[in-house]
Amino acid sequence: MIMNETIKTILSRRSVRAYQQEQIKEEELMTILEAGRFSPSGMNRQSWLFTVVQSKEMLKKINEACRNSLLKSGNPAMEERARRSDFSAFYNAPTLIIVSGDKNLMTAQYDCTLALGYMFLAAASLNIGSCWVHGITVMLNSEDGKELKKELGIPEEYQVYSSGAFGYKATEPTCPPKKQLDEIMKIIK
Ligand SMILES: Cc1cc2nc3c(=O)[nH]c(=O)nc-3n(C[C@H](O)[C@H](O)[C@H](O)COP(=O)(O)O)c2cc1C
Repeated sequence: MIMNETIKTILSRRSVRAYQQEQIKEEELMTILEAGRFSPSGMNRQSWLFTVVQSKEMLKKINEACRNSLLKSGNPAMEERARRSDFSAFYNAPTLIIVSGDKNLMTAQYDCTLALGYMFLAAASLNIGSCWVHGITVMLNSEDGKELKKELGIPEEYQVYSSGAFGYKATEPTCPPKKQLDEIMKIIK
């Protein structure tokens, strides 16, 4: 296999679930967003909106909304997690990036998902941790999240497709099991 800096970043990126409280630098945030801006999109429509949340007050609001949403999930394990006093849907990360797109466009979901993926890789290349946080997406698209979505300035006709936590890592995660290539590929020659 060929190894270079890009491949190294792709292979070593992990989902980070413990963060330091120190905020990432503005230049680092802008670099991460720029990587999202340059990701591919259907017909180059770039139908995304990147909403960055760093305000402690807003982070708390989002966390409480995720907590309430999980408490109603009907999933006992999720409900148990949400009841904990130290619950954080996004592992206390100091930065959230919420990617939304025009739900009337056919490729918005793919565009927004890919953009966050690019941002994860850019973050990893800067030694910044990241993790997909699905609970935020689910909550913001639900009836209960409507007000908060509005408060975040996400247009009504936009749907949230991906949300990620970003920050300096508090721990270095190990790699979870990955399937071998021969289990998941088929090359037709
Ligand atoms: C669509 C999607 C949803 C995910 N949702 C969550 C989540 O809600 N919380 C979380 O901690 N990780 C979430 N993850 C991260 C995965 O658990 C993680 O990518 C997977 O376990 C592989 O680990 P790695 O990213 O370190 O390679 C999600 C990833 C994807 C792609």
